[in-house]
Amino acid sequence: MQQPPITTIDDIRQLFLKELVSGFGEKEPRGLYAPIDYILQLGGKRIRPVVALLCGKMFGDQDFSNSMSVALAVEVFHNFTLLHDDIMDDSPLRRGQPTVHEKWDVNTGILSGDLMLIQAYEHLCRCPNTVAIPSLLQTFNRVATGVCEGQQYDVDFERREDVTIREYVRMIELKTAVLLGGAMELGALAAGAPQSDADHLYAFGRLTGLAFQLQDDLLDTFGDSAATGKRTGNDIIRNKKTFLFLKALELLSDEHREELREWFNSSPDDPAEKVIRVTELMQEAGIPGAVAQLRDDFQQQAYEHLAAAGGNPEVKKLLVALAEGLLQRDH
Ligand code: IPE
Ligand code: IPE
Ligand code: MG
Ligand code: MG
Ligand code: MG
Repeated sequence: MQQPPITTIDDIRQLFLKELVSGFGEKEPRGLYAPIDYILQLGGKRIRPVVALLCGKMFGDQDFSNSMSVALAVEVFHNFTLLHDDIMDDSPLRRGQPTVHEKWDVNTGILSGDLMLIQAYEHLCRCPNTVAIPSLLQTFNRVATGVCEGQQYDVDFERREDVTIREYVRMIELKTAVLLGGAMELGALAAGAPQSDADHLYAFGRLTGLAFQLQDDLLDTFGDSAATGKRTGNDIIRNKKTFLFLKALELLSDEHREELREWFNSSPDDPAEKVIRVTELMQEAGIPGAVAQLRDDFQQQAYEHLAAAGGNPEVKKLLVALAEGLLQRDH
């Protein structure tokens, strides 16, 4: 018998965007709802919903009727975290446009973000496969708690001088990787997949998420703002203890290590010189290559878990293609 054609990644993204556009229109108060429409319609790669839908399809949710609600939940949740993250990181730009707290103010970013968290739960609770809802909520709560823990470590590390690479990896696992893994686990669970398969997809997403955050950190320093839509050098300005910084400390000469430490103990009003010099030091230490190596290691480990999961092998190929694209991305 002929297999039904497998939709492309782009088709799935378009399908998702159609569901996402039903925004708030003129709903009042505008100060609460307009920023939510703004951030959700600003674009973005839509990776988390796409993987949620793919994982649903892997386990028979052909028309995405069950996985769509978790796709919406994870994308709204992700955008909520961006609103608050941009306040915490003092970031002026997001997806090439002013961040919500710049366009409106910090209080707006806080409250609109809070409502988005509530909406994420609403989407989850609307999953037509109602028997799955308790496990969806349990998984989502575990993941969302992890993201908050990761964000707190990220901020704590700004002021710490003794952060290790192991601590950094744990921090990015929590703030970023668990949500990518969670999106995959949720998509599979919504489609009624066995927990053992959902666990493998979670592990695949978690390891892919580690590779993803390493690439994000690389782009923060070595990317082009026109492509990333973010302010290049923001992590340097904020003294973020990324792999780039920690590995450079390991690889630089004594003199340059000391210089790097000094820059990371300062927060000049005009950070331009700091960003230029720290970027030079990182380049000199061979950081882009070191990041690429660790990133690719994580991705290779990820594929082992994907291979171990059941489900439609044609859809698995789409997940691999998506992950490969993420490794090479410039935005
Ligand atoms: C940005 O996520 C925040 C991180 C976890 C690195 P994305 O890079 O997925 O952002 P959008 O949604 O595509 O803008
Ligand atoms: C973001 O990490 C993690 C979350 C939003 C939870 P970053 O702070 O590196 O993300 P960007 O670079 O601002 O997108
Ligand atoms: Mg940030
Ligand atoms: Mg951050
Ligand atoms: Mg970043």
